[in-house]
Amino acid sequence: MSGEGAEAIVRYALLSDAGAIAAITAEYAREGIMLERSAENVIENIRNFFVAEHQGEVVGCCAVAFYTSGLAEIRSVAVLPNYKRRGTGRLLVEKAEEILKEEGVKEVFVLTLNPHFFGKLGYSEIKKEYFPQKIWRDCTHCPKLMACDEIAMVKNL
Ligand SMILES: CC(C)(COP(=O)(O)OP(=O)(O)OC[C@H]1O[C@@H](n2cnc3c(N)ncnc32)[C@H](O)[C@@H]1OP(=O)(O)O)[C@@H](O)C(=O)NCCC(=O)NCCS
Repeated sequence: MSGEGAEAIVRYALLSDAGAIAAITAEYAREGIMLERSAENVIENIRNFFVAEHQGEVVGCCAVAFYTSGLAEIRSVAVLPNYKRRGTGRLLVEKAEEILKEEGVKEVFVLTLNPHFFGKLGYSEIKKEYFPQKIWRDCTHCPKLMACDEIAMVKNL
C-alpha cells in the first residue's frame, strides 16, 4: 500500500539510512534536479541529515550546511515520487529550520529548481551573488558551474 496511511515523521538520520538517502538523491540527480549524495558522503555528514519515515520506510530527506554563525543552507530536500504532495517536504524543511534556529542561525538559504515549493514555505528569491561562500564550497564541483540554472532563495528565521 505504497504511500497510504498516517503522516511521515521527521527525525535525525541514522548511519543505516545512508543508503536510502543516497538512493533518493540519485533518482533526482539523474533528472538533473539535484546534486547526488553518495552513501559515503551522507555518512561523513550524518549529523546534518534528516529523514522522513513512513511506516518504517525512509521516504524523504534533507540536510543542513553551516556557513557562518548566522547563515546556513537547507539542501538535498527530496521526497520519493509516491509520497509527494502530502506535506512531507514541508515537515522536512520545518524540522531543519527548527534545528537551525536552535543553533542561532538567523538567515537560511536554498538553491533550487523548485521555487514554488520554497515560496510556499516563506522563502523569497535573491541574487545568487549574495552568497559567495556557497559558490566556493559546492558549485566548483558542479557540472553546471558556468550555466547554473538554480534559483537562490532566502528566509529569515
Ligand atoms: C520539492 C519536494 C521536496 C516537495 O515535497 P512534497 O512533500 O511534495 O511537498 P509538500 O507536500 O510538503 O508541499 C508543501 C507546499 O508546497 C507546494 N508544492 C510542493 N511541490 C510543488 C511544486 N512542484 N510546485 C508548486 N508547489 C509545490 C504544495 O502544494 C504545498 O503547498 P500548500 O501548503 O499550500 O498545500 C518534492 O517535490 C521533491 O522531492 N522534488 C524533487 C527534488 C527537488 O526538487 N528538491 C527541491 C530542491 S533541492
